[in-house]
Amino acid sequence: MDSYTHNSILEHGHGHVLQVEKVLHMTSGVGENSYSLNSALQKTVISKVRPVLEGTVRALYSKENFPRYFSVADLGCSSGPNTLIVTYEMIDAIVGLCRETGHSPPELTVFLNDLPSNDFNTDFKLLPDFYAMLKKEKGNEVGPCFIAGMPGSFYGRLFPSKSLDFVHSSYSVHWLSKVPQGINNNKGNIYMGKTSPHNVFEAYLEQFQSDFSLLLRSRADEIKLGGQMILTFIGRSIKDPTSRDCCLVWELLAKCLLDMAAEGLIEEADIDTFNLPYYNPFIEEVKTIVEKEGSFVIDRLETFEVNLDANDNDENKNYVFDKFTCGQNVSHCIRAISESLLADHFGEAIIDDLFERCAERIGEHLSMEKIKNFNIVISMARK
Ligand SMILES: C[S@@+](CC[C@H](N)C(=O)[O-])C[C@H]1O[C@@H](n2cnc3c(N)ncnc32)[C@H](O)[C@@H]1O
Repeated sequence: MDSYTHNSILEHGHGHVLQVEKVLHMTSGVGENSYSLNSALQKTVISKVRPVLEGTVRALYSKENFPRYFSVADLGCSSGPNTLIVTYEMIDAIVGLCRETGHSPPELTVFLNDLPSNDFNTDFKLLPDFYAMLKKEKGNEVGPCFIAGMPGSFYGRLFPSKSLDFVHSSYSVHWLSKVPQGINNNKGNIYMGKTSPHNVFEAYLEQFQSDFSLLLRSRADEIKLGGQMILTFIGRSIKDPTSRDCCLVWELLAKCLLDMAAEGLIEEADIDTFNLPYYNPFIEEVKTIVEKEGSFVIDRLETFEVNLDANDNDENKNYVFDKFTCGQNVSHCIRAISESLLADHFGEAIIDDLFERCAERIGEHLSMEKIKNFNIVISMARK
């Protein structure tokens, strides 16, 4: 056994309980492996949802009769350029509407929310340039804009009662508050997989039902009557949780971990006890929870797919030619979102090796068949 395996067993591994709220964060900073540099997929998703955002801002303004103050929260903002894209798009929509109707722009408060270990500093450093760009581009058409951070879990209260007009979240609510309980029999998998026992599927669905209901209940307290919320997240198009919509990329990552266990670099028992706090729901599961919780009415529910390699926009082929580059792109993206959880469980030392293997395996798969994310966008009004 080499020293890094030995250390990872002592400090990490099977006795270790993952505390999602403390550990989960997208890779910080602006380096090669950072979320800042590896979030092109999420940027594509935000741009595809822009028409829904514009429609929602319009709907809000027609109801509210141009309020002087407008308060917004972006849940799971993360760090890097994407964080302020949504803020910009919303301001752009408001400015356009004010121009059309001759109203004065409102004063805006924007809360950027994420878990406490998010790299808020990287976000805050972007603010001076963002404010300068707004002034240059929009001049007097944009009202005063105040952007602040709000650390904490969106599975619980974050804001004062009835204080928000609009809540937005992109690519965040598929993260659960914790790993579902009682799934240590999920051997050889790190998420729901084809070989997972039945109780694993049930436990994941139950955790999602409980988390998503809590999110709705918490926002219902905070959003003003008639206020709006748009949530975009990864889902699946069919009920079967072992469908390829669901688990493929995590199955490929699990295979890389199993290879490393076969080579004695990590312990197989550690793989058995590692499960992702993540769930991509079937659309009907989402609708049922919203209806049952009862505080919101769904205005719009749409779905769309994106290539997991966001740099691949050739829709004419079902496979990629450059498996090396595409494998690297996807591996970087997966690393930026999951590295904090994997390092917490297996130790930092395995991460470079794991994602080199992952790039190769994913590249091989992409040369036969592309991998796509199935996305759900849901726009809701507070009843
Ligand atoms: C993939 S990033 C999406 C970031 C950004 N919205 C975008 O579209 O690029 C998901 C973010 O959700 C955050 N997140 C996950 N669970 C959360 C929770 N319970 N409360 C607040 N943020 C959470 C993660 O920390 C992460 O920064």
